[in-house]
Amino acid sequence: MEAQNLLSRFFPNYKIPLIRASKKPFSSSLPSNPSFHSLLQSHNCVSFKTHHSPCLKGSLKTIFFCLNASENAVLEEKDYKKPRVVKRKKLAVFISGGGSNFKSVHEACFEGLVHGDIVVLVTNKPDCGGAEYAKNKEIPVVLFPRTKDAPDGLSPSDLVAALRRLEVDFILLAGYLKLIPAELIQAYPRSILNIHPSLLPAFGGKGYYGMKVHKAVIASGARYSGPTIHFVDEHYDTGRILAQRVVPVLANDTAEDLAARVLHEEHQLYVEVTAALCEERLIWREDGVPLIQNKENPNEYS
Ligand code: GRF
Repeated sequence: MEAQNLLSRFFPNYKIPLIRASKKPFSSSLPSNPSFHSLLQSHNCVSFKTHHSPCLKGSLKTIFFCLNASENAVLEEKDYKKPRVVKRKKLAVFISGGGSNFKSVHEACFEGLVHGDIVVLVTNKPDCGGAEYAKNKEIPVVLFPRTKDAPDGLSPSDLVAALRRLEVDFILLAGYLKLIPAELIQAYPRSILNIHPSLLPAFGGKGYYGMKVHKAVIASGARYSGPTIHFVDEHYDTGRILAQRVVPVLANDTAEDLAARVLHEEHQLYVEVTAALCEERLIWREDGVPLIQNKENPNEYS
């Protein structure tokens, strides 16, 4: 193997690990060796890491990914044992309102743009527009969380058990207004996404939801806004940013005008990101930033 030969010049005892089917992208760091690092520098690289996409039975993809922030170049790429077969993913969507993002992702699954299916809708508002849509499409609806007013709701551990039973791979938050409990985040590491209607980290955090976000953007005088899709951690809107779209804020915009312009982009962006997620085109840069591999040109990341 060419890659192993190159590495063995510098690290005689280092073996590229063979990874079998596993859900998460694998990464391994190399021991430090000055000669090897000067070779990397001659390729405009500051550090080096192997990325494997091992989720595919019988296939091992090794990418030597150059982590110089200004270069982001791929040094070498090899595919072994083609063809690459990617399992169709099972998605849970969480909403509290009309669910237009939920509907656009659902339609994209149905039309074959997304290699996955929404197997459950989770909501704290069982009468919301999105829940009605789910019932019409025969998508199971789960009430979460359990509260005084919603005694039929699930507890966090019941919810995790239900998602596991349904074999959910990824969770998409789309206008779900409750904080996600730590138990769920720990059960689904790097597998929960949220869409927020501003360019995070601006105009995010507790209290920034719905029209409040757009009013604050307009009041600030910002000339640009747009949706952000980010991974979810235990706080509001602070997880790693995965994708953004920019729209202009126009001089005479009302919050409703801006919301409509942003929402239009949200629908496209959430479908594109969900498609990438389901096709296993996400990788994690060494500094923890998630990137999406371009479908047409696998050497490009955004
Ligand atoms: C969207 O603006 C999204 O960014 C935010 O909540 C809104 C949900 O809209 N998190 P919808 O219910 O998908 O129409």
